[in-house]
Amino acid sequence: MKKNVLSILDIHKEIQSIIDSGMQLKQQYAQNRLKPVLMDKTLAMIFERPSTRTRVSFEVGMGLLGGHSIFLTKNDIQLGSRESAEDIALVLSRYADIIMYRAVETQHLIELAMHATVPVINGLDSREHPCQILADFMTIKEHKKDFNNLHFVFIGDGDDNLTHSYLLGCPLVGMHITVISPKHYWPAKEYIEKARKLANQKQLSVKITDDLSALTSADIVATDTWISYWYEQTRQQRIADFASYRITPKIMQQAKPDALFMHCMPIYYSEEVEKSVAHGPKSIILDEAENRMWVQMALMKHLLLEP
Ligand code: CP
Repeated sequence: MKKNVLSILDIHKEIQSIIDSGMQLKQQYAQNRLKPVLMDKTLAMIFERPSTRTRVSFEVGMGLLGGHSIFLTKNDIQLGSRESAEDIALVLSRYADIIMYRAVETQHLIELAMHATVPVINGLDSREHPCQILADFMTIKEHKKDFNNLHFVFIGDGDDNLTHSYLLGCPLVGMHITVISPKHYWPAKEYIEKARKLANQKQLSVKITDDLSALTSADIVATDTWISYWYEQTRQQRIADFASYRITPKIMQQAKPDALFMHCMPIYYSEEVEKSVAHGPKSIILDEAENRMWVQMALMKHLLLEP
């Protein structure tokens, strides 16, 4: 039975083993003993939005495992106008063994996943970014050794794909989560409710606040752009609303002394974070970017070889 990963909840049982598998693949590569376990497998990637990390990490990762990748842009495929999501799903499934899709319309992602006979991975939509948080969690595990009782604090836009995935993912791996955001930008209710339900099962906390003093308990401080693709029209309003939530060295000092800084990139240095923080001693942003590749290799391996 094929499995899709549109939300981090789709791998709620396997999340820890996929993270561990990503760490093992990284180690195997360093020791020159990585095996081409996906030889002759093909990944079809559809990008309706720009990408650096997602495209390159999937393509290089598939190559390291012996497979290869096809890259299709919005102009090539014209999903929803030239051809239906259903027909594209059925046709691509005859050529490729796995599909990664960065969709503009979530409905197209859902339809593609429903009709494809091969696994479909969400490469970011307006609701979630599961591959990114898998990489982020692998990076946290590398630096902090385990997740137990760590406090993950996200500062910035609460009502965004990455925050939604963090809200669901932190309780899954055993971390407390606080989202610090102006009230008008708090996460969608359904994600808060789901996160609280997951957290309650493990005596973990989920806190949503506009108060920056909640930062004092942070083991990890994360942020993201204030202006995701779909919010471009409200750019100036957002810059004004988020101005006091910009991460500066002074803000970082309020977190625990050994707190780490994370950002999924791309970074807007004049907006959500100062360059001295993003490239400072507490930052692990480049490990995060690298680990996209290792953990996505583990994810593809899981979906193709251990369904
Ligand atoms: N973090 C991330 O998804 O980067 P890209 O948009 O460059 O793929």
